[in-house]
Amino acid sequence: MYSRNRTRDFLSRLAPYGLKSVHSNEAFRIPQNGRFLFLKVYGPKKPRIFYELRSRLDAIGMRQPIEYRVPPRRKDFEEACLKHWREKGFSVPHLLASPFPEYEGVPHLCTTFIEGVTMKSILSQGYFSAEGRLEIFFEDLFRRHALAFRTSDTLLFHIDANTQNILEAGNQFYHVDFEMGRPWERPMECACREITKLLISMGQDLPSGERNPLYRLFKKVYRNRDLLDFLDRSIHRRPFQNVHRWRNRRKKEEDPRRVTLYDLAEALQDTTEERPQTPPIKKESHDGCLP
Ligand SMILES: Nc1ncnc2c1ncn2[C@@H]1O[C@H](COP(=O)(O)OP(=O)(O)O)[C@@H](O)[C@H]1O
Ligand SMILES: [Mg+2]
Repeated sequence: MYSRNRTRDFLSRLAPYGLKSVHSNEAFRIPQNGRFLFLKVYGPKKPRIFYELRSRLDAIGMRQPIEYRVPPRRKDFEEACLKHWREKGFSVPHLLASPFPEYEGVPHLCTTFIEGVTMKSILSQGYFSAEGRLEIFFEDLFRRHALAFRTSDTLLFHIDANTQNILEAGNQFYHVDFEMGRPWERPMECACREITKLLISMGQDLPSGERNPLYRLFKKVYRNRDLLDFLDRSIHRRPFQNVHRWRNRRKKEEDPRRVTLYDLAEALQDTTEERPQTPPIKKESHDGCLP
């Protein structure tokens, strides 16, 4: 069992190594034998009230997404994903034994620290300076998904694929943070979750005029048209369309930079693949970018 006092004690001991975080967990960069390791102490998801409720429902057998499970179960799932990805040849941090065995009762994860840059910071330089690296990233993504579909392997989808959970180091892209998802879903649903999270997060990190080139590149490289059709249907054929569109408008009023699911579906429909031989068609100015 893990107690709140023991967790507080552990966190205060690790405090000098804390990473600036907007996350629900506490993350640290700990020096060890001349290198650094990454350590994460699992905490409650926000808003806390829903987390507490749903983790209790999970405990009485009402299946909940990974992120609402109690810390030991989230840790087990994340470690299983990291092992699995590595066995299949994909780039993730190495699992390490904790240098704090005395805190075994406080669920925490230890891995190698990836000394790299996040996808978010790559995109902050603008789309065009990152285009070549993004093409490689999308190609890796396409190949991983192709394998996952071929072998019905839903662990190979990275559900929480926001741009802070993707790191580039030494010309390779690493994925981190695997404690989210619904492992009972079909491969197409898992893939759709990863792609929507990823493309919305990437789009939001770019100025609005650079989003369509990004989505065009994605469509050129990610050649699974079934996924794009599924994604479009999952947005446009949801029940209660009026409610979703109203909420969509509200979100954009609150934050005009926001990329919503409808924006994404529209952008993926609009962005026709580039055909260099064809003479350029004169387009209306509103056609070029997301609001
Ligand atoms: N092994 C790692 N090496 C370097 N940075 C990491 C590593 N794992 C995670 N990070 C960074 O720390 C952040 C927080 O870790 P994460 O596992 O995503 O926690 P949370 O579940 O709270 O989002 C990540 O978004 C990523 O930028
Ligand atoms: Mg994260």
